[in-house]
Amino acid sequence: MRVAVIGAGYVGLTTAACFAHLGHEVQCADIDADRVARLKKGEVPILELGLPELIKEGLTSKRLQFVVGAATAARTAEIVFLCVQTPQGADGSADLSFVEGVAREIASVLLPGTVVVNKSTVPVGSTRFVQRVLSEAGARAEDVTVASNPEFLREGQAVRDFQNPDRIVIGCEDRKSAVRVSELYKGVDAPVLVTDPASAEMIKYASNAFLATKVSFINAIANICEAVDADAREVAIGMGYDTRIGFQFLHPGPGYGGSCFPKDVAALLHISSAAGYDFELLAGVVDVNRAQHERMIDKVRDAVGGSLTGVTVGLWGLTFKADTDDLRDSPAIFIARRLLEEGAQVRAYDHGAGDKPRALVPGLELCADAYDAAAGADAVVLVTEWDEFRWLDFERVRNAMNGDAIVDARNLLDPAAMRRRGFAYQGVGRR
Ligand code: UDX
Repeated sequence: MRVAVIGAGYVGLTTAACFAHLGHEVQCADIDADRVARLKKGEVPILELGLPELIKEGLTSKRLQFVVGAATAARTAEIVFLCVQTPQGADGSADLSFVEGVAREIASVLLPGTVVVNKSTVPVGSTRFVQRVLSEAGARAEDVTVASNPEFLREGQAVRDFQNPDRIVIGCEDRKSAVRVSELYKGVDAPVLVTDPASAEMIKYASNAFLATKVSFINAIANICEAVDADAREVAIGMGYDTRIGFQFLHPGPGYGGSCFPKDVAALLHISSAAGYDFELLAGVVDVNRAQHERMIDKVRDAVGGSLTGVTVGLWGLTFKADTDDLRDSPAIFIARRLLEEGAQVRAYDHGAGDKPRALVPGLELCADAYDAAAGADAVVLVTEWDEFRWLDFERVRNAMNGDAIVDARNLLDPAAMRRRGFAYQGVGRR
């Protein structure tokens, strides 16, 4: 089928490249001409495993094209995916202005029978909202239908998650259109749930909010483990064998971050309060998460004797999780700012972050590698679980440091092994 994907960001690029890989003719549009020019040359502006290869394949087979402007792509498409950003507004609500702008822009060029699909995470009720915007801008409701097809792509594994989804969710009042959207996924082996738009939109928020709840839950359990001398990793394994709980999303850490959990949880809180329901449980998840970031600062401060003033701290990791280049709502960025606020000197290293942290955290020193970040450090804090931190020469780290404290905010390292090497090791909920 002829597919248009509007928005060449984390979701749009993966969606466009994977649909082209499935054999569809895809035009991926972005407003940024420079971004489009680089993509036409196969330059991929984000770190996603497997994406450069798929984009190269799509360009070579000519099944994937990049164009400037939503209307350019939409005018020949049978299915148009909206993959533009839905940033979090000040009150927590999702800002739909980009979605609205694109809907207005494409309304007058859509071929009769086109299905417009919300792929971005949008508030419950957005499918109807987009239908209204399209009608107001000239697309007759009998000609164009709107569907919801939420994405469940984890950053760093987006291609894998697109090609091996746990489920495909399609929300659309018109069953024929829903079937047409599901046909795009021919070749993807996964259950397809066709439901109403509001339920499809709620599935996305409820899923992310539940995963965030799992993360905050295990972080709270880890904190209690520290007080009762239990080991959170042992507890998580014992919990995970219960198939109703499972092992995933039970890794204690510095708290969740990224461009989805914080935004989607805030949006769901806003949706529920607007609906007159006080979602106290979810508000608690946010409180636990914020406190968990702060708790990492407490650990570092305790490790250096109670004050961070004039102390040098090595910071391993800046991205919100491993295998991504994304710094949005990263706990590591929060921790770097707080350490500097308390008078510490912070030497950071993250091979995926590039130069972006410089602008985000004034005063942060960016180092060439983990050893450089540890040079002269009174304490080192590991915040992002990049695999490379597991395999460092810790003899060299110890000799480079001024102190002996390691705060392992991801429980990536082995406590006993680190203590044998002479480090004062602290994990999260570890004995
Ligand atoms: C998430 C959802 O997983 C995905 O389905 C949705 O489409 C987008 O949001 P993502 O934000 O890329 O994906 O990251 P994810 O891997 O889910 O992790 C979210 C946050 O939770 C990260 O900060 C991660 O470090 C943290 N996390 C995750 C934990 O702290 N512990 C865990 O066990 C798992």
